[in-house]
Amino acid sequence: MADASGHLPGDPIWTAIRAEAWSEEEREPLLRKYLKETILKSKRLEDALSLHLAAKLATESVYPMILQALFDHVWKESSEIGRAIRADLQAIRDRDPASRGFLMPFLYFKGFHALQAYRVAHWYWNQGRQLLAAHIQSRASEMFAVDIHPAAQIGAGILIDHGTGIVIGETTVIEDNVSLLHEVTLGGTGKELGDRHPKVRQGVLIGAGAKVLGNIEIGAGAKIGAGSVVLDAVPAHRTVAGVPARVVGRTEEESPALDMNQQFPHTQTEGSGI
Ligand SMILES: CC(C)(COP(=O)(O)OP(=O)(O)OC[C@H]1O[C@@H](n2cnc3c(N)ncnc32)[C@H](O)[C@@H]1OP(=O)(O)O)[C@@H](O)C(=O)NCCC(=O)NCCS
Repeated sequence: MADASGHLPGDPIWTAIRAEAWSEEEREPLLRKYLKETILKSKRLEDALSLHLAAKLATESVYPMILQALFDHVWKESSEIGRAIRADLQAIRDRDPASRGFLMPFLYFKGFHALQAYRVAHWYWNQGRQLLAAHIQSRASEMFAVDIHPAAQIGAGILIDHGTGIVIGETTVIEDNVSLLHEVTLGGTGKELGDRHPKVRQGVLIGAGAKVLGNIEIGAGAKIGAGSVVLDAVPAHRTVAGVPARVVGRTEEESPALDMNQQFPHTQTEGSGI
């Protein structure tokens, strides 16, 4: 049954966001109106997200209401995206030590905002509305400093920590449960055309500033050190680091992206080549 504001049960993350908003409304009166307008007046998580993203991405000629309607249409057409949004929020909650609950990332983490703008742009791209998709990508890039090509394929449960400086190219594939820290590039080498971007398998953790270039596979559960330049495929469950990157060990965890263990192995267990 819906509560007084029309909120329906059965969505634990949305329930948690609303509960946090109610409590913050008491603790932080200066934000009361903002919390009411953005969260507490909305019935569903998707409604709040449309409102919130539209306010951030609108321009003088593409009004918030237009964007809100565009986002609402996507949520209505694709329940898969609804599941991905929730998995992304859960990923932040579980893996980012800077997050406090679900409300803070929902309102303020631009890696999350950019990812959801990408999900909408990707949907329109696949409908053949490429200019509209490019418009959303361009606004998200301006606002969040995260540039994700709408044609890239990105799974669910993705953490884009901090957001700033992320670039993800057109033919990139990112499977589920991957974590990217800031300033990661998943780009081309500039020497290939067509399918030219990395394929990042499940559970991979990519450290801040790493550049992963070319149509190379980053195997499941691999870990890439901060600042690395990765030019060759990385086998599953290996840690690579350096410029150019070399294997420096095996990952101890099944999914480094989930554990967010950013330590390197104590001893080098592999040869120097990837
Ligand atoms: C430098 C670059 C153009 C490749 O040039 P190239 O002359 O064809 O080089 P190769 O790929 O044959 O590599 C030659 C050597 O340089 C190394 N190398 C290549 N690119 C490197 C880089 N960026 N940093 C450090 N070493 C690099 C290679 O590992 C290789 O070393 P090795 O001979 O010991 O194995 C390319 O790697 C690059 O950096 N392009 C820019 C891509 C970019 O910025 N993409 C972002 C798109 S969003």
